[in-house]
Amino acid sequence: MSVHNPDIKRITTHVIQELKNKGEKISALTAYDYSMARIVDGAGVEIILVGDSASNVMAGHETTLPITLDQMIYHAASVVRAVKRALVVVDLPFGSYQGNSSEALRSAIRIMKEAGAHAVKMEGGLEIRESIIRVLSAGVPVMGHLGLTPQSIYKFGTYAVRAKEESEAQKLIDDAKMLEEIGCFSVVLEKIPAALTKKVSESITIPTIGIGAGPDADGQILVLHDLLGITKEFKPRFLRRYADLHDIMSDAIGNYVNDVKAQEFPNENEAY
Ligand code: KIV
Repeated sequence: MSVHNPDIKRITTHVIQELKNKGEKISALTAYDYSMARIVDGAGVEIILVGDSASNVMAGHETTLPITLDQMIYHAASVVRAVKRALVVVDLPFGSYQGNSSEALRSAIRIMKEAGAHAVKMEGGLEIRESIIRVLSAGVPVMGHLGLTPQSIYKFGTYAVRAKEESEAQKLIDDAKMLEEIGCFSVVLEKIPAALTKKVSESITIPTIGIGAGPDADGQILVLHDLLGITKEFKPRFLRRYADLHDIMSDAIGNYVNDVKAQEFPNENEAY
């Protein structure tokens, strides 16, 4: 059972801003396909992110780098077909916006046009300012993403907490202010110290959405398969599992195999 407000018929970027303004926390989750997105949307999540974590979760890659724009569009279109209420944000994948601002705009337009998305997410601060401005100028809402930005994993070398040092923390604050100033509607803060999240969330007016960033972000996001306990081996400190679907699914499938072998499935009621 969820406590979402069913009076809000359709979540827009304006509704997301209003939630921060009135101090109500924002819930966000990833989804990559039609069936899961229907469940997530029906449960009252306000933002559904078609994350490039699909590269890990759906395709089994080690990083988010291999997923292509065409593959993101396929996932996003499936999610959009399922969603009636949530705001659907789609990641611009690695290599689809870093080259120059025209490339960024082309990629964002493909996502909006071909998938029917409501907004895009782009990783980075000052380095990609021009690309974000170009996308925004076409009327496409942009969610920023600072802190641990997985598309830069080979630069970082590790998935450890970011911005523990003063200089990186200050750059993150400056980047967050810049994202607000150019018109992003929100910003994801990934794996940074909780105190820094509080400081950023208090110093910008747009909502911050945290993952591994403590309780003071204006909203929280998790990867759906982690929350559901499907990805059993992934156990970061920030993750709370709300179910153990890995074992539930594994038991159900094991029981099916046993029934088939024992010729107990199908029975006469399950046959024509
Ligand atoms: O790709 C993704 O799932 C994300 C979230 C973890 C924020 O970027």
